[in-house]
Amino acid sequence: MGLLETRNLVKSFGGVMAINDITLDLEEGDILGVIGPNGSGKSTFINLLTGIYRPDQGAIRFGGHDITGLPAHQVTRRGIARTFQNLRVFSNVSVLVNILIGQHTQIQNRLYHLFLTPLAARKREKAAEKKALGLLKMANLADRRDELAKSLPYGEQRLLEICRALASNPRLLMLDEPCAGMNPNEMDTLADFIRELRAKGHTILIIEHNMPFIMSLADRIVVLDAGRKFKDGPPEQIQNDPEVQDIYLGKEDDI
Ligand SMILES: Nc1ncnc2c1ncn2[C@@H]1O[C@H](COP(=O)(O)OP(=O)(O)OP(=O)(O)O)[C@@H](O)[C@H]1O
Ligand SMILES: [Mg+2]
Repeated sequence: MGLLETRNLVKSFGGVMAINDITLDLEEGDILGVIGPNGSGKSTFINLLTGIYRPDQGAIRFGGHDITGLPAHQVTRRGIARTFQNLRVFSNVSVLVNILIGQHTQIQNRLYHLFLTPLAARKREKAAEKKALGLLKMANLADRRDELAKSLPYGEQRLLEICRALASNPRLLMLDEPCAGMNPNEMDTLADFIRELRAKGHTILIIEHNMPFIMSLADRIVVLDAGRKFKDGPPEQIQNDPEVQDIYLGKEDDI
C-alpha cells in the first residue's frame, strides 16, 4: 500500500481540465519528481492533495485514510506539508522564528497548553528551538538564525521555507519548484539537503523544471501533459523518452 494514493482525480476550472483522471501511488521513503510543460497541472495536483482545492471526481488516500475533500489545515495535521511555487516566508521576523511558526501546526489541542507548568512550557520551547536549529544546520542557515528572513538572498529564503514545512514533522513533504530563483551553489545545498532527508526516510514529492536537478534526485518521475499522466517511470527511462522531449517542443520550457 502506498503512503499516498490518488484514484481517477479530476479538477477543472471552467472549460479547462487542469487534472484529468490521475491515478498515482507514492511509496513511503520515495522521492517522486513531477514534471511537465507550463500549465500541465502540476501545481493543481499539489493543491488537490493539500486541500486547497476539492477534486471534482476521484479519491485521495493518505496513510490508509481517505482524505478527499478535507480542508487544508486538516490535511496538514495528518502529516502533509508543502511549499508554494511563489515564496511565502514571514519577511519581518527572524529566520529562527519562521521555523518556530512552522512547528505550531503540530499543536493540536491549544487548551492543553494552559495546563502546562512554566517549567514544562520552557522545556517544550527549548526542544522546539533545538529541532529548528537542527533543520537550519542541515540547510546551512544556522549562522543566520537571528537575521530577518527578508535579509536573506532569495535562494536562501526558499531553503528557509522548506525548513519551515519540515518543522511540522510531516510524513510527506511536497515542494513546488524549489529550485526557482536559486543560484548553482544554493541548488547544490538544496540537493544535499534533500539527499539527507531521503537518508532519514522522508517521502518527498518535487515539482521541478530543472531537469538535471530532478533527474539526479528522484527515484521515479511522473510526466503530466494537459492534465493527464503522460508517463510514469524511472528517471533514466523518462530522460531518454522521445515522446517526453516532444511535449516540451514549442513550449517555453526546457528539458
Ligand atoms: N485557480 C484557477 N482558476 C482558473 N484556472 C486555473 C486555476 N489554477 C490553475 N488553473 C489552470 O489550470 C491549468 C493548470 O495550471 P497549473 O498551475 O496546475 O499548471 P503547472 O503545471 O503548475 O504550470 P507551471 O509550470 O506554469 O507552474 C492551467 O491551464 C491554469 O491556467
Ligand atoms: Mg505550477
